[in-house]
Amino acid sequence: MDEIEAKIQSLRKELEQYNYNYYVLSAPTVSDREFDEKMKELEVLENTYPEYFDPDSPTQRVGSDLTKEFLQVEHKYPMLSLGNTYSEDDVRDFYERTARALNEPFEIVAELKYDGVSISLIYKNGRLSQAVTRGDGVRGDDVTANIRTIRSIPLKLHGMDFPDDVEIRGEVLLPWSEFDRLNKEREEQEEPLFANPRNAASGTLKQQNPAIVAERKLDAYLYYVLGENLPSDTHYGNLEAARKWGLKIPDVIRICHSLQDIFDYIKYWDVERKNLPVATDGIVLKVNSLRQQRNLGYTAKSPRWAIAYKFQAERARTPLNSVSFQVGRTGAVTPVANLEPVLLAGTVVKRASLHNADIIAGLDLHIGDQVYVEKGGEIIPKIVGVDVDARTSALGEKVQFIKNCPECNTPLYRPEGEAAHYCPNESGCPPQIKGRIEHFTTRRAMNINIGPETVEDMYDAGLIRNVADLYDLTMSDLLSLDRWAEKSARNFLESLQESKKVPFERVLYGLGIRYVGETVAKRLAYVFHSIDQLREASMEKLTETNEIGSRIAESVVKYFADSRNIEIIERLKAHGLQMEITAEVLAGRSDKLKGQTIVISGTFSKHSRDEYKDIIEQYGGKNTGSVSKKTSFILAGENMGPAKLEKAAKLGVRIVSEEEFLKMLEE
Ligand code: IVH
Repeated sequence: MDEIEAKIQSLRKELEQYNYNYYVLSAPTVSDREFDEKMKELEVLENTYPEYFDPDSPTQRVGSDLTKEFLQVEHKYPMLSLGNTYSEDDVRDFYERTARALNEPFEIVAELKYDGVSISLIYKNGRLSQAVTRGDGVRGDDVTANIRTIRSIPLKLHGMDFPDDVEIRGEVLLPWSEFDRLNKEREEQEEPLFANPRNAASGTLKQQNPAIVAERKLDAYLYYVLGENLPSDTHYGNLEAARKWGLKIPDVIRICHSLQDIFDYIKYWDVERKNLPVATDGIVLKVNSLRQQRNLGYTAKSPRWAIAYKFQAERARTPLNSVSFQVGRTGAVTPVANLEPVLLAGTVVKRASLHNADIIAGLDLHIGDQVYVEKGGEIIPKIVGVDVDARTSALGEKVQFIKNCPECNTPLYRPEGEAAHYCPNESGCPPQIKGRIEHFTTRRAMNINIGPETVEDMYDAGLIRNVADLYDLTMSDLLSLDRWAEKSARNFLESLQESKKVPFERVLYGLGIRYVGETVAKRLAYVFHSIDQLREASMEKLTETNEIGSRIAESVVKYFADSRNIEIIERLKAHGLQMEITAEVLAGRSDKLKGQTIVISGTFSKHSRDEYKDIIEQYGGKNTGSVSKKTSFILAGENMGPAKLEKAAKLGVRIVSEEEFLKMLEE
């Protein structure tokens, strides 16, 4: 082996060890800066000497090629589920049943039940060869490329004494902190929020772009070893061996010798689990001896040697007063339960989401029912059931999903494969019209100086029906409205004039074309340059564009196929709005910040924070909210928060002032 190869190998080994210490043991042994420097050194060597490429190198965890379609793989051992129980009595039954069936001493291993997405990792000769989701239990999706980005999953097992062919099962989880960060980001981007970390983890695993998966910081906790030549004849022993192979086996598993041991474990973790970094929803109990497991065997769906005990979510009972249906800007109709206010996990709950028609039907809800409300891992409380015994003979009216729009009476439709109902009357349904106008005026779109109530007033007075009508408003129109004086009217007219300077990409975003958020609008503007060229673009042309999928493309094509939209655009054009990208913006776009992840903090004097966000994007960089190891530098204005400063210092992240930053771009 030559010197270079030896150096590369030793760096890989060292970095793997650091990763393991950090992600599996949660006990970092080097500073992040040192880690990053070593990683950089390895990257440079690997790029210079591609002959030493290794797919399992720590440099390869950032995500590889796009996955077109996940391959279906048959599980060697089916992935079964567990019987659920909810009470101590059920646990006692399980214990006694097991004792009777075995008729000899036995041990029970108690573990936490992690609330994520189950995964099976297949290691062949110590290398991660395949990672498969549960799917229907018999066959699942091959998500290996995505799983390889999870730092706590070793690409190579440690040591020598692992079987040639071994399967390790466990749960992929998105830690609470990452879940919160991700949802905050989505809120800013006007993307739908994830209801809980499990949905977020599952959505992430199905991403076709492993690079996005790598950014989301998934974790994996493992709890089951399967194979022909296992090192131990107990479940516990095999988990201990797997821990030595470098896998992340939770250290909270316990061997229980009695029912009392089990109850103590449950009681302790019912409280303590709230301090864990990931979501758990119960306890899993497993017979420890593999021989005894075989003796007990399986039912059609689940093993007889294991059971899940689910924690009681915080729950309250309260009467259902009514159900209302809200229509959003996109026409989606959301059912909302109006409840008699009730205290739940420290807050008063008055409303709960009912999600969609299927959920309502499944609950068999009647007005006046005593319903159970739960706050589990969800953000919005949800109704999980009805106290049927509390029903009196005077049963209230059955709750039905409405057939017609509550606002415009148009029959609703439900697109195939979607759970939601929509009102199709885009151009005639008041909340949709008002919602679109409101969206158009928001700060990050046209920044026109009015709030939702004003839009409502103008609409009710019959002054506006679409965004182009705003530009036809006159002083006397405005003065005809309640609470308007000349001064406010003049301010408004001025901000209308100002809005004509708003760059094309923001106008495009403001139009509110479905699925065209800020980022997509920018991309479309940069690629197609003008509204006319975008209007001419075919499905093929659109989907050729980076990160524009068929869903967005279809929506764009549909928008321009509607003559009413064309009329609005022509009127906006005539009023002088920017309908093409300026040469300045096009020229200003460079790759100077390519690959850089930048956090903005503090207040600035030369540009606003939003402008800096745009500048970073224009120069090919990426703006993120929180400081992490990945942050390239912090663009810091005045009064940067102390928490961020401290974190930056700890991670060794560079701080760049406003002046330095602007100079950087000029160079
Ligand atoms: S053991 C045959 N252990 O719960 C037994 N499962 O309904 C295989 N889960 O699909 C599962 N934590 O996704 C096991 N400590 C744990 C678990 C666990 C979470 C999930 C798993 C499984 C489901 C069972």
